[in-house]
Amino acid sequence: MNVLLLGSGGREHALAWKIAASPLLTKLYASPGNPGIGSVAELVKLDMSDHSAVAAFCQEKKIDLVVVGPEGPLVAGIADDLRAWGIRVFGPSKAAARLEGSKGFTKDLCAKFNIPTAAYGRFGDLASAKAYVEKTGAPIVIKADGLAAGKGVTIAMTLEEALAALEACFEGAFGTAGAEVVVEEYLTGEEASFFCLCDGATALPFGTAQDHKRVGDGDTGPNTGGMGAYSPAPVMTAEMTERTMREIIEPTMRGMANLGAPFAGILFAGLMVTDQGPKLIEYNTRFGDPECQVLMMRLKDDLLVLLNAAVDGQLAHMSARWSDEAALTVVMAARGYPGTPEKGSVIRGLDEAAGGGAEIFHAGTAINGGALVANGGRVLNVTATGATVGEAQRRAYAAIDHIDWPQGFFRHDIGWRAVEREKAGA
Ligand code: AMP
Ligand code: GLY
Repeated sequence: MNVLLLGSGGREHALAWKIAASPLLTKLYASPGNPGIGSVAELVKLDMSDHSAVAAFCQEKKIDLVVVGPEGPLVAGIADDLRAWGIRVFGPSKAAARLEGSKGFTKDLCAKFNIPTAAYGRFGDLASAKAYVEKTGAPIVIKADGLAAGKGVTIAMTLEEALAALEACFEGAFGTAGAEVVVEEYLTGEEASFFCLCDGATALPFGTAQDHKRVGDGDTGPNTGGMGAYSPAPVMTAEMTERTMREIIEPTMRGMANLGAPFAGILFAGLMVTDQGPKLIEYNTRFGDPECQVLMMRLKDDLLVLLNAAVDGQLAHMSARWSDEAALTVVMAARGYPGTPEKGSVIRGLDEAAGGGAEIFHAGTAINGGALVANGGRVLNVTATGATVGEAQRRAYAAIDHIDWPQGFFRHDIGWRAVEREKAGA
């Protein structure tokens, strides 16, 4: 098979690495990719917003499957447009990607199909949103409805913060994404990421993970796209997984089919495991980054076979096998992240770092004058496996010790919650 992978982050490097290991693969292309992806794929420059140009490339290169990494092109309808050209695509339609593209859409789906989630209101103007917040009180959560690159959520511990967040949204801080706002109940519990591979009718559980959103050790400082992750998530016991499938995922699959928008692709449920059981915080309609990196390390089966089954509606006949080992990834970021990262600093020592069995996925790198340089906020994902999360953690940090990049930084406590659990259980 010839495969085209769209995207350029650590998530896409992990997907490329796993697809490249498939005996089904003839040739892998990636656009735009990055230097790490370039070690297993031919990098091509396509304008992802020009769906006809992508389709023309697929026809010329006889692409048998397009795998879409990020949410932006899915929400913009790239899967529908490529399918209209007869091209096979792994990723949801525009109508199904509303699960990520509109928080209000997902909340209404939950209400209609009785899916456990935070109580909420949807508002298109400041006055009515303010009235709701004043009536409900803090703590409360304010969310821009649309895609806001992970920045559209405010957890307001006071009424003042909540009102300021509403004003910012309606004043255009998130552009059109904030023209509508979801206000919701503040949930407490432990968060987990739950993944399903979906073919429109069947949802196959596809691993669990926990990530670390705050930039600093001890879960302090501003939110980021994720500073590290590990899999599996200990909080997702067999019972919690069964409840999540029955109470959240399966009603979502039926609901989406019911609305004429069956979901095919990766359904990523952000969960809060509360005293009353799992509640949906939000859906994403793609793999998490960096959660994908740890999932790919643990997946024993051929990813390409599974993606094909999802595209062909054959998941009811499939299963996925996972390593019993834990996987953990530490994000190395460029100074300044999550604000404006410094670009261009030289990174050395990756071969030595990988020597001990770690996988180093590139997230934001470039080649400049023959040297590997930082070219984004999150730059490298140093990923290792182990019999326990603690062992995977030690291996990942041992690999980082070999990386020579003074301008980079990373958290020193990725996996702390699971490691503490392991120590308490030992
Ligand atoms: P999101 O961008 O929707 O993933 O939200 C970012 C983070 O905000 C989530 O990972 C949670 O940590 C937190 N969050 C979102 N909604 C809620 C909620 N209703 N209650 C508590 N925390 C929330
Ligand atoms: N790591 C969270 C996300 O990919 O949305």
